[in-house]
Amino acid sequence: MTPTEDSFAPSTAEWYYPSEDISRQAYVTDYDALYKESMEDIEGFWARQAESLEWYQRWDKVLDRSEAPFFKWFVGGKTNIVLNALDRHVKTWRRNKMALIWEGEPGDKQTFSYWRLWQEVNKFGNVLRGMGVKKGDRVTIYMGRTPELIIAMLACAKIGAVHSVIYGGFSENAIADRIEDAQSRVMVTSDGAWLRGNIVELKKIADEAVKRSPIVETVIVVKRTGQPVNMQHGRDYWYHDLMALPIASPKCETEVMDAEDPLFILYTSGTTGKPKGILHTHGGYQVYTSTTLKYVFDIRDEDRYWCAADPGWITGHSYIVYAPLILGATGFMYEGAPTQPYPNRWWKMVEEYGITILYTAPTAIRGLMRFGDAWPNRHDLSSLRLLGSVGEPINPEAWRWYHKVIGKERSPIMDTWWQTETGGFMITPMPSVGLKPGSATRPFPGIDADVVDEEGNSCPPGVEGKLVIKQPWPSMLRTIYRDPERFKQQYWSTYAQQGWYLAGDAARKDKDGYFWIIGRMDEVIKVSGYRLGTAEIESGLVSHPAVAEAAVIGVPDEVRGNVVYAYCILKAGVQGSEELVDKLKEHVRHEIGPIAVPTKLEIVASLPKTKSGKIMRRVLKARAMGLPEGDTSTLEE
Ligand code: WTA
Repeated sequence: MTPTEDSFAPSTAEWYYPSEDISRQAYVTDYDALYKESMEDIEGFWARQAESLEWYQRWDKVLDRSEAPFFKWFVGGKTNIVLNALDRHVKTWRRNKMALIWEGEPGDKQTFSYWRLWQEVNKFGNVLRGMGVKKGDRVTIYMGRTPELIIAMLACAKIGAVHSVIYGGFSENAIADRIEDAQSRVMVTSDGAWLRGNIVELKKIADEAVKRSPIVETVIVVKRTGQPVNMQHGRDYWYHDLMALPIASPKCETEVMDAEDPLFILYTSGTTGKPKGILHTHGGYQVYTSTTLKYVFDIRDEDRYWCAADPGWITGHSYIVYAPLILGATGFMYEGAPTQPYPNRWWKMVEEYGITILYTAPTAIRGLMRFGDAWPNRHDLSSLRLLGSVGEPINPEAWRWYHKVIGKERSPIMDTWWQTETGGFMITPMPSVGLKPGSATRPFPGIDADVVDEEGNSCPPGVEGKLVIKQPWPSMLRTIYRDPERFKQQYWSTYAQQGWYLAGDAARKDKDGYFWIIGRMDEVIKVSGYRLGTAEIESGLVSHPAVAEAAVIGVPDEVRGNVVYAYCILKAGVQGSEELVDKLKEHVRHEIGPIAVPTKLEIVASLPKTKSGKIMRRVLKARAMGLPEGDTSTLEE
C-alpha cells in the first residue's frame, strides 16, 4: 500500500484534547518526557516501578536475556501477587476500603471490603490446600461474572497454584481441550450464570466436559442460580459447604513465589490448531499491570472503576482482578447483559454507583449506540472522568458517540491496544495526551513498538506493515504452556535476527508517530471483541459426522466488529438441507460455545484451494464481501 496524504488527512486533522482539570491532575502530565526517560534506561524504569510493590526478597537482576526469547524479569526476587493485591492492604487503613462492588443481573448486590475479600480468599485458599492442591498445580475455573470467580483466582495465586480460567461462553469441547492441555485435576464452577434473564447451565456443560477429560477429580460448585444440578458423589462439592468446614480458616499462609513462577495460564486462539496456553508469572506481571493501570486510568482512592470485560479474558485478569487490587482501588463488576432488562442498564448503574472510570469494548459501545441517545440521556453520567476501549479498533463514529453522549466531551477515551500475550496495555493514550479517534496513540513508556516491512525496516508514515515490539517488557508471555517450540515459532521467528516480538497485527503509523491498528494478519477473528481461531471452529464443524471439510472466515459487521461465516463440504452421500445447517450451527454452540456460532453457514461443493491444497480464506472473504478476488494465480478450485 502506498502512503497517501488523503487517506490520512481526515483522521490526523481531528484532534481531541482532554480538559484541563483532567490532564493537569494526572499522574503523567508530560508523556514525551517520561517516554524518553524510560527508553534511555528501560530496566531502570521498570525497576523503579517494581520498587513501589512489596517483595519478600528483592531481585538481583532486573532482566535476564541469556536465554532469549525466554526472557526473565526480576530474577531472584521473591513475591506473590496476592501479597500486593491483598495482604499488604489489610495492614493499612485500606482494610476498610471497598475492594469490590458487585451487582447481579437480577439486581442483587454485594460489596467486599479489602478485609472481607482477603478473608474469603484465605478461606478458599485453605479449602484448595485441603483438597490437596499444591504449588504449581493447575486449577480450572469456569464461572460467570460473580465475586467467587475473583476469589477463586486469588486463592489459587495465594497458595501458588496456577489458574486456568475458561470464559463462561465456551462449551464442552473447548473446555475439555483446555483441561486436558493444562492437566488440571481440580475445577471450580457454578450451577449457572444469569444472562439476558436466562440461566446458562454451567454445571451441566462442565459435567460434559469432565466426561471428555476425566483427569478432573474434584469439582467445586458455587451456588448462584439455584436450579437443581447433578452432583456426583465423591467428585462434586458445594463451595458453601466447603467454606463452612473448619479447614476453611480465615488465616492462610501466602506461598512465597519466585518472581518467575507461573501465575496463570490463559488459553487464546492462534493461527493454527488448538488454543495455546499463554503463561504469565507473578513478578513481572504484577509490576506491569499495576503501572499501566495507574498511569493510563489515573486511578485514585476516590475512584469507582468499572472494567466491563469478563474476568475469563485477559482484560479481566489484568484489569478487573489484579491491577486494581494491587493499586488498592475500588472496582465494580456486573454479572449480566448491558440490555437487561432495558438498554439503559449500564447507564443506570453508572449513575447509581457513581462510576468514575468506564473501560469497555467497541462492540459494546456500538451495540448500545444503536438504541439511541435517549437511554443514556435519562441518567446523570457526570461522575465519569475517564473512558476506555479495548479489543479491536474503535471506528471513529463509535468513538465520537462514546466521547459525546457518554463522556459529555469532557472525558478522554483511552484506546488501549494490547493482547493476551502482552499481559497489559502496550499502545495507549494517557489522560494528558492528545487523541485522534480510532488511533491507540503511542506506546506506553518502556515499550519499543514499531511498524516494519518484511525486512524489518520501519515503514514510513501511512504505510501498512507489521506491528512489532523491539524490547522485552515485564508482563510479556513467558511461553506457550508445554509448547516452547510453538512460542518461538509463533512470536519470535519472523524477526529472529533482530530479536523482535511479532504481534500478529497489521498497523500504520502517521506522521505524528500515532499508531493505527488495522487488525489481525492471521487466522484470528475478533467477534464482539472476543478472540476466536478459525481453526478451532473448523475442527468443531468437522467433528460433526456429516461434515467432510470446513472453512471459516471473519466478515466485517457493524456492531460486532466481525461475524463468523462458515463453508462446509459434506461427506459423500449426505444431503444438504436447511435443517442440517441449523444442526451444524447448534453443534458449534455445543462444542465451542455461543460466541463461535456462524452467522452464516453455507453448504458448498468445493472450496477455493491453492495447488498445494491450502484453503484460500482470502478468496472466500472477498467473495463473501463482494470484493475482487485479487491474485488467484495459485488457485486450483
Ligand atoms: C486486537 C485483548 C485495535 C488486536 C486485550 C490484538 C485491538 C488482539 C485493540 C488481542 C485496540 C486489542 N485497537 N485492536 N485498542 N485491543 N486489539 O488477546 O488485533 O483477546 O492483536 O487481547 O485484539 O486480543 P486479545
